[in-house]
Amino acid sequence: MCGIVGYVGSRDSQAILLSGLARLEYRGYDSAGIAVIDGDGDLGMRKRAGKLQVLRDDLNAHPLADGTTGIGHTRWATHGGPTDENAHPHLADDDKLAVIHNGIIENFAELKNELLAEGFTFRSETDTEVAAVLLGREYEATHDLVGAFRTVAARLEGAFTLLAMHRDEPGLVVGARRNSPLVIGLGEGENFLGSDVAAFVEHTRNALAIGQDEIVAITPAGVEVTDFDGNTVEVEPFEVVWDAAAAEKGGWSSFMAKEVSEEPEAVAKTVLGRIRDGAVVIPELEALDDLFRGITRVIVIACGTAAYAGMVGKYALEQWTRVPVDVELAHEFRYRDPVIGADTLVVSISQSGETMDTLMAVKYAREQGAKTLSICNTQGATIPRESDAIVYTHAGPEVAVASTKAFVAQITALYLLALHVGRVRGVLSAEQSAANVRELEAIPAKISRVLETEQAHIEQFARWMGDTQSVLFLGRHVGYPIALEGALKLKEISYIHAEGFAAGELKHGPIALIEPGQPVFVIVPSPRESAELHKKVVSNIQEIRARGARVIAVAEEGDAAVLPFADEVLRIPLAGALFEPLLAVVPLHIFAMGLATAKGLDVDQPRNLAKSVTVE
Ligand code: F6R
Repeated sequence: MCGIVGYVGSRDSQAILLSGLARLEYRGYDSAGIAVIDGDGDLGMRKRAGKLQVLRDDLNAHPLADGTTGIGHTRWATHGGPTDENAHPHLADDDKLAVIHNGIIENFAELKNELLAEGFTFRSETDTEVAAVLLGREYEATHDLVGAFRTVAARLEGAFTLLAMHRDEPGLVVGARRNSPLVIGLGEGENFLGSDVAAFVEHTRNALAIGQDEIVAITPAGVEVTDFDGNTVEVEPFEVVWDAAAAEKGGWSSFMAKEVSEEPEAVAKTVLGRIRDGAVVIPELEALDDLFRGITRVIVIACGTAAYAGMVGKYALEQWTRVPVDVELAHEFRYRDPVIGADTLVVSISQSGETMDTLMAVKYAREQGAKTLSICNTQGATIPRESDAIVYTHAGPEVAVASTKAFVAQITALYLLALHVGRVRGVLSAEQSAANVRELEAIPAKISRVLETEQAHIEQFARWMGDTQSVLFLGRHVGYPIALEGALKLKEISYIHAEGFAAGELKHGPIALIEPGQPVFVIVPSPRESAELHKKVVSNIQEIRARGARVIAVAEEGDAAVLPFADEVLRIPLAGALFEPLLAVVPLHIFAMGLATAKGLDVDQPRNLAKSVTVE
């Protein structure tokens, strides 16, 4: 939510800022802007409502003078609509200081009143401009940008990453963060700041993660990090594991199409190097073995698609570890005074590692004495840094706003966790563990088969359904979260009303929605693996068919029982009951993408959304 990039060095900063913003655009795309200190020491700024291309066109038509120090921002509006005035950067101190911001400054009204009373004026409706004016006031008094930051940061409440530069201190960009992301990229004679490593990965893979309540000053010669009191802080270096090409669209029509095609790889890479002799070997987990033996409860916290991954993981965790598992939306968990303690393991799941709702829930769980484990896809992100242990998913950078490959990687990581804890607690035998590991290792090839055999068929079918107004999704057991995921993906990128239900719940109300022609996707459990559930789902299909529904069954290859009642059958390969979700979700991702494409929508940047939701 809002992408931030900063640069100091010897190259033209505009090109670097714009390519960094292009890689961060998934974080927000309702306006964009840059500010640059040029060779004459003047500060130039340009910002425009609309996608980054609008800014690019403007800069092409009316270039800004080149400069080697700059900051850039791509916005997801919070305070004030997406207008040119509300876009960042915001200027202060007679337009000598430029500021960009991600987050929400909760006490901005009070600070603004104080500044208004002193005679300061404002050009936008944003909370950011208040921070800019405060910084400007402080700078005027001290002529020290880092010092001014320290004073201002201490006065701000809420979540923020702030970056600023001042005309009188060229070659310096200063940043501060609290509960909002910021990472440093280390170059040769140049340095970078970014909301995440995508901002600078084409220039350097050497990065530093900044902690909470810290201030960073970058110059071409180096980087200095201090806490809000001015004490020097040691920062943790890491090497970015993926290269810039991984975050490129390549020849694909969209990032989402590329990322769906990478679902097999996302599972394979998450498993890679973590299996030895049929057992899960993850050093980060082994350190927690004593805890795993003693836990009485697991709570999985996450939002959106990640929460659905958690719901799938619950079945495996409970079956393989016999520890009760609750899955909760992070924002609900945080504010309901949950009963947790030292024998509770709180597992957070987050692709971005920055989702504010999840971050706040993790912090809260730690404060209550629970141990926290983060399943995350992004190196250097805040949530893993705030957790006791991390299991990274290795899905690679996910750029499309709608999560796809990260979802299957999250389920995979949860299964690795469940298998490990199941062994440690003595619930699973070595043979049982090895059999499940084999199932997991076979999944990438099976997902590839779904893509090869079903993608064209599903896309064609999605085109036929281009005028559909509403789609329902039904599933039972592990198929239920898949139904929820199918519905979320469809509403998110096709703007079509979609609902997922537990198939057994239908008769308790939602069946009233069924009228002739209503499309209903049904996730059908395997008749070999889950014979009883399969029969129940086939009965559910008959109930909706009897009321005129148009049934699209996602069913195992060879399951003939669904044929008489389904208008369409999307086939998935055979797999163990717990592994079916990793296959059944693939046709639903393809369908949502196909329908949105048929409607001419931008599947990568759906309206009103941003990839990384860094506000509560
Ligand atoms: C849906 C989607 C969102 C995210 C949710 C959590 O396609 O992408 O529902 O899953 O915002 O995001 P992370 O995983 O980054 O915490």
